[in-house]
Amino acid sequence: MPERVLSPGDREEESLFEVNLRPERLSEYLGQSRAKEKIGIFIEAARRRKEALDHVLLYGPPGLGKTTLAHIVSNELGVRIHSTSGPVVERVGDLASILTNLEEKDVLFIDEIHRLNRIVEEYLYSAMEDYKIDIMIGEGPTAKSMKVGVSRFTLIGATTRTGLLTSPLRSRFGVDLRLDYYTGDEIKGILARSAHILGVGITKDGMAELACRARGTPRIANRLLKRVRDFAEVRADGVIDGGVASAALEMLEVDALGLDGLDRAILGAIITKFGGGPVGIESIAAAVSEDRDTLEDVYEPFLIREGLIVKTPRGRTATPLAYKHLDFPMPRMQKGLFSE
Ligand SMILES: Nc1ncnc2c1ncn2[C@@H]1O[C@H](COP(=O)(O)OP(=O)(O)O)[C@@H](O)[C@H]1O
Ligand SMILES: [Mg+2]
Repeated sequence: MPERVLSPGDREEESLFEVNLRPERLSEYLGQSRAKEKIGIFIEAARRRKEALDHVLLYGPPGLGKTTLAHIVSNELGVRIHSTSGPVVERVGDLASILTNLEEKDVLFIDEIHRLNRIVEEYLYSAMEDYKIDIMIGEGPTAKSMKVGVSRFTLIGATTRTGLLTSPLRSRFGVDLRLDYYTGDEIKGILARSAHILGVGITKDGMAELACRARGTPRIANRLLKRVRDFAEVRADGVIDGGVASAALEMLEVDALGLDGLDRAILGAIITKFGGGPVGIESIAAAVSEDRDTLEDVYEPFLIREGLIVKTPRGRTATPLAYKHLDFPMPRMQKGLFSE
């Protein structure tokens, strides 16, 4: 299996370290100014009216701050947050017990909401809309279904792509917030904040070196910072300057564009195994032994954004920049795809 040093999708790596770095108030949440302004207004309005906030849908690639924002919303509202995720809520009964435990104005956070199964999803509709659910009383032939009310709660759903959501579910959210990749300066701001919290020295050059390889993703920025800090402590005098950062990143096999081993394996496969493309996502997934969803959610958006691959109805094609980055000559026929 190709090495995955820095993939942003590793949820199991949500360590204590990340939790400590997680901003708790909206004012500490850097970047995403449009989403922040919007949610700030809705929070304030809900607070003034002493009502539950409307249901919120958060979407964007992994590591951009969806879970963080959900927690911030509950902090700002001063309510409890109950967290679960789509694949975990397997049965209607699971959802019913979560819903009946909610108190007035509580936040229910469902991560990966697109992965709820259809029956559970449909059960959620009436809870979202009328704050009512059907509960089965008794068993067997005498079982009866009864309508019960649930507290007025706020559902916050997170998903990596809105296209994965059914339209009935999507239409039940009053607020829709899209998170986008962060700019270099925003990532530098996040690195400065994290370095301060961790008590590690970092120079401007060190910050710039990390920022340009963090793929516009706070989770990756923080992870790089932590790894580079280890390196700085062991090999240098504890301060992360430009030299220390670039030596450490080289050791971690993160290249100048921020690509890791799997990113390069994907580009390499398209170029060497599939003639540069177009090639379907399934074939690429098989070639690099990674699952299709991870490629589509985590890897592909970044490679597209960096202009290394393009997506066409016939599949993915490596761009001239990809050939250049991996140092492969580009066949004339492939070049033809990119000239008008
Ligand atoms: N806007 C932000 N400002 C500062 N740190 C952030 C921000 N967004 C995310 N982070 C950091 O990045 C990490 C990953 O964010 P997370 O909310 O888990 O992403 P997602 O749920 O979208 O995958 C968090 O632990 C947090 O430390
Ligand atoms: Mg998350």
